Amino acid sequence: MPIENRDDAWQIDAAHQNGFFDGWPNPPSPKTHLALLQNSDCVVIAFDLDRDVVAGYVTAVTDHVLCACIPLLEVLPAYRRQGIGPNLFHRVLTLLDGFYMVDLQCDEHMQTFYENRGMHKSRGMMLRRYEYQSGHPSHGQSGPVTPTKNFTAPNPFPDPSTTANPPVT
Ligand SMILES: CC(C)(COP(=O)(O)OP(=O)(O)OC[C@H]1O[C@@H](n2cnc3c(N)ncnc32)[C@H](O)[C@@H]1OP(=O)(O)O)[C@@H](O)C(=O)NCCC(=O)NCCS
Repeated sequence: MPIENRDDAWQIDAAHQNGFFDGWPNPPSPKTHLALLQNSDCVVIAFDLDRDVVAGYVTAVTDHVLCACIPLLEVLPAYRRQGIGPNLFHRVLTLLDGFYMVDLQCDEHMQTFYENRGMHKSRGMMLRRYEYQSGHPSHGQSGPVTPTKNFTAPNPFPDPSTTANPPVT
């Protein structure tokens, strides 16, 4: 089955994606899922061209300067064990090239996967508001904020000699 990596989440519609958030007791709806894809700074979608469905995706959110976070990576159960997850993760790390910090939270059994891709174990903290596991009613209503198509990692420390209009200090 031909799988294509895409970064045009704004061209997907909710009918293309079902079955994600496997095992979540109160999963976001396909519409809410689409809203979070479209509002992420950076998203890569593995799209099954034959069946016209999203087979997997990864999202990243950033401050556009130093820090990036990868909140979600998932491949539908029927598409697992074909290299799609590693491929998505490789692609998102490439898109985030230039960020000083790239962080994520994961279960212990996933740590080797991320270590094999250059990440290091660390201590972390988290908060989960389970009443909003499927999404807050007022979130994601305004549509995509920034198209991810032209997302490029910023250079936080540009060389002043190559900056056309250096800031006036
Ligand atoms: C984890 C996940 C994205 C892997 O995607 P996939 O396309 O099935 O990955 P593949 O099996 O083709 O890739 C093989 C690699 O993934 C690792 N892997 C796959 N499933 C894994 C699992 N359940 N636990 C730990 N590692 C796993 C393999 O060990 C292998 O790692 P290596 O290349 O470093 O040796 C997928 O199983 C998934 O969506 N799981 C549910 C959501 C989830 O746990 N996401 C991660 C959030 S931190």
